[in-house]
Amino acid sequence: MNIETRRTKAIAGQKPGTSGLRKKTRVFMEPNYLENFVQATFDGIGGGAGKIFVVGGDGRFFNKAAIQTILKMAAANGATTAIVGQDGILSTPAASHLIRQNAADGGFILSASHNPGGIDEDFGVKFNAENGGPAPEKLTAKIYDATLAITEYKTIDAADVDLNVIGSTQVGDMVVHVVDPVDSYQKLMESMFDFNAIRALFADGFTMKFDAMHAVTGPYATAILEGALGAKPGTVINGIPLEDFGKGHPDPNPIWAKPLVDLMMSDVAPDLGAASDGDGDRNMIVGRGAYVTPSDSLAILAANAHLAPAYRDGLAGIARSMPTSAASDRVAKKLGIDAFETPTGWKFFGNLLDVGKVTICGEESAGTGSSHVREKDGLWAVLLWLNILAVRKQSVADIVTDHWQAYGRDYYSRFDYEDVATDKANQLMDGLRAQLTDLAGRNEAGLTVKAADEFSYLDPVDGSQSHNQGVRIMFDGGGRAVFRLSGTGTQGATIRLYLEQFSGVNGDISQDTQDALKNVRDAAHIISDMEGLIGRITPDVVT
Ligand code: G1P
Ligand code: ZN
Repeated sequence: MNIETRRTKAIAGQKPGTSGLRKKTRVFMEPNYLENFVQATFDGIGGGAGKIFVVGGDGRFFNKAAIQTILKMAAANGATTAIVGQDGILSTPAASHLIRQNAADGGFILSASHNPGGIDEDFGVKFNAENGGPAPEKLTAKIYDATLAITEYKTIDAADVDLNVIGSTQVGDMVVHVVDPVDSYQKLMESMFDFNAIRALFADGFTMKFDAMHAVTGPYATAILEGALGAKPGTVINGIPLEDFGKGHPDPNPIWAKPLVDLMMSDVAPDLGAASDGDGDRNMIVGRGAYVTPSDSLAILAANAHLAPAYRDGLAGIARSMPTSAASDRVAKKLGIDAFETPTGWKFFGNLLDVGKVTICGEESAGTGSSHVREKDGLWAVLLWLNILAVRKQSVADIVTDHWQAYGRDYYSRFDYEDVATDKANQLMDGLRAQLTDLAGRNEAGLTVKAADEFSYLDPVDGSQSHNQGVRIMFDGGGRAVFRLSGTGTQGATIRLYLEQFSGVNGDISQDTQDALKNVRDAAHIISDMEGLIGRITPDVVT
């Protein structure tokens, strides 16, 4: 094997604390850009010698070329084995599973998640650690430091691997296994859920549309829903992964998956509508005439998980990100298990899952998952819903209403203000921070502030601390507003305002969401002086 050491200049790759690098595709295509980040990753993990890596992506433009680069660099860095999805395809949860199943040392997942793809859109690389989860902050800091210090990278001059053909080949001294991307993931799902019961549900005439948004879940959903579970052909729509996602924005929410939501609100709605994002880790669930908020979905899945074989013995605990509504906390309380509140980002669930403190976790941003992998998992959430529907034999809407009747309803909405000038966004956050100690007792828009703080997290497993994770304003009467800046935006700053109002147990669960949130919303706008600082209070995106 002829290892070439090529000189390169350092490029600050990745903000520490973000699990991966996300940039415009053309930036990744610049000479040495991807190579820098990949070499920095090998350097950050203590080298590649003797290691096994999983490699795959969501099929977006540049996916296959990036895989060839990574394979040659892995071989040059001494890796013994690479496991690659056929055609370069691996969903994020499937990659997480392959890392764990093969006791690999980590994996490179090529995706910019729900961001659009194409030569003029976004690309990304994230490194997952040996537990199958996003690299923890300690590791991303090392990788970042390495991107600043790098002077050279290693590669070999070898032919490209034929990614279309399942089987084993060599790149230099490294063995490359090209594997079916769906196979082992499907087996995992079959081991967790009652496929017979779900098959019977479909055989009884249950109807569904799954929108794969021309992204990675197409092959998975087609094989599992239409293949193994017998759902009608045509159940999966937009099921062929495309390099530009059909020019769509593969984010499963009522904005970007509007055609599906419109269908679900129409007279010809099927029983269940679901969608997943670019790399298959997010999910959206819609019943006939009933959109289920991700926060409610997490709570309902947790409350009913025991109906699926994998969770028959109950849950160890439930974790949610701080901005996610408190609905799942109420379930944990009733079940007598622990509820954890973590900062935004899946990596914070990793330790809790690794030591068995939690079984199910979720985020308001359409991410739900469990201890079966170390990533959120879109199709898993859909299959757990199907398993619950097959056992309860009720509609999605009835299950949601039953839940609110038992626990009360957490009205919830997120407002996104995109492309805000970074200094203005920082000014808004600093303005909130400056008021924190004086806010209690203040009355705005008919609501009194009960308490306010900036969220910090002490990881109960490794003792690490994360500060500045969002400003929380709690109101008397069960309202809450949270402000934080997005860590994933690629242009300017994105302010996220999360609004929540609890109905109370036995409270009014039939209000319109935005009506129920009006006071919390108005108070949040006034307290932050949003209008004065950024010149608008109307968000770009409401979910
Ligand atoms: C967003 C979501 C967050 C999620 C992340 C990655 O991050 O809000 O819940 O973990 O994408 O999918 P943000 O842009 O808010 O930092
Ligand atoms: Zn994603």
